[in-house]
Amino acid sequence: MPLVHMKPMLKTAKAARYGIAAFNMIDYNSARAIVDGAEEMNAPIIIQVSVKTIKLWSHKTLGSWVAALAADADVPIALHLDHCKDLDVIKGCIDNGWTSVMFDGSADPFEENVKKSKQAYDIAMAAGVGLEAELGAIGGVEDDKFVAEDEAILADVNECLAFCKEMPELAVFAPAIGTAHGDYKGEPKIAYDRLEKLTSIIDIPIALHGGTGLTDEQFTRCIQSGCAKVNISTMHKKHFVDGFCDVKTKEPPVKEPIPYIEAQYETMKAGVMDMIRTFGSEGKASQMKAA
Ligand code: 13P
Repeated sequence: MPLVHMKPMLKTAKAARYGIAAFNMIDYNSARAIVDGAEEMNAPIIIQVSVKTIKLWSHKTLGSWVAALAADADVPIALHLDHCKDLDVIKGCIDNGWTSVMFDGSADPFEENVKKSKQAYDIAMAAGVGLEAELGAIGGVEDDKFVAEDEAILADVNECLAFCKEMPELAVFAPAIGTAHGDYKGEPKIAYDRLEKLTSIIDIPIALHGGTGLTDEQFTRCIQSGCAKVNISTMHKKHFVDGFCDVKTKEPPVKEPIPYIEAQYETMKAGVMDMIRTFGSEGKASQMKAA
């Protein structure tokens, strides 16, 4: 199938209270593992890309890899740009057929964030692609951005409401609710009350950032409370490295590269399938194709 827009996928998922996994790809093999894992589970999926990864491979190469994988797949796949504050990178994705982008103005004061996010919103709406935008400060490390745990700020409910009123057609909204990117140092303190409040006043599906390290119960509760896009990056990157490197410890030594690539693929794919099961999106691809 051609790449799809993520807004209808996420609306359907939110209404039925399951989560669509959004995995950060690193290279072709990692994208192949995401697509094949989703196909095996008959699940809709989002492949997202960090700006650093675009700098390595280019918008065009990444776009062509994922479009080719999607063309041969029978599940809905959206190609999404993760945290980005550069409108030129956003335009580059759009020009190369990506179906979704994120503008991250969370480091700016509220008014400035609204102003810049609206510029990205106008660009995305004119091009017919989905937009994700962020409010508050999600802790941890993502791409080149680091927010110390004591500097993470939960999104303010009134600001969230005003932010979303300015951009009513957002595909997904990312308020900081206490999760963090990277490995958790202690027990994550998720502000469920705030999440539930936001879902009761805002129609737009919510993105859950910092998925790696959350428990099944935490995922389920967030999804039941309105999170429809669930981001996983650190876990997929760990599987990328471990799956490959584990082959190095085998006796007799493996000298051909392909067994390394295949082991890396299998490790990543198993992780993808596991998350799809946890988020409840297994078997949901047919429902979306029918919609
Ligand atoms: P993790 O790296 O914690 O899985 O978070 C991913 C994420 O939220 C990407 O935006």
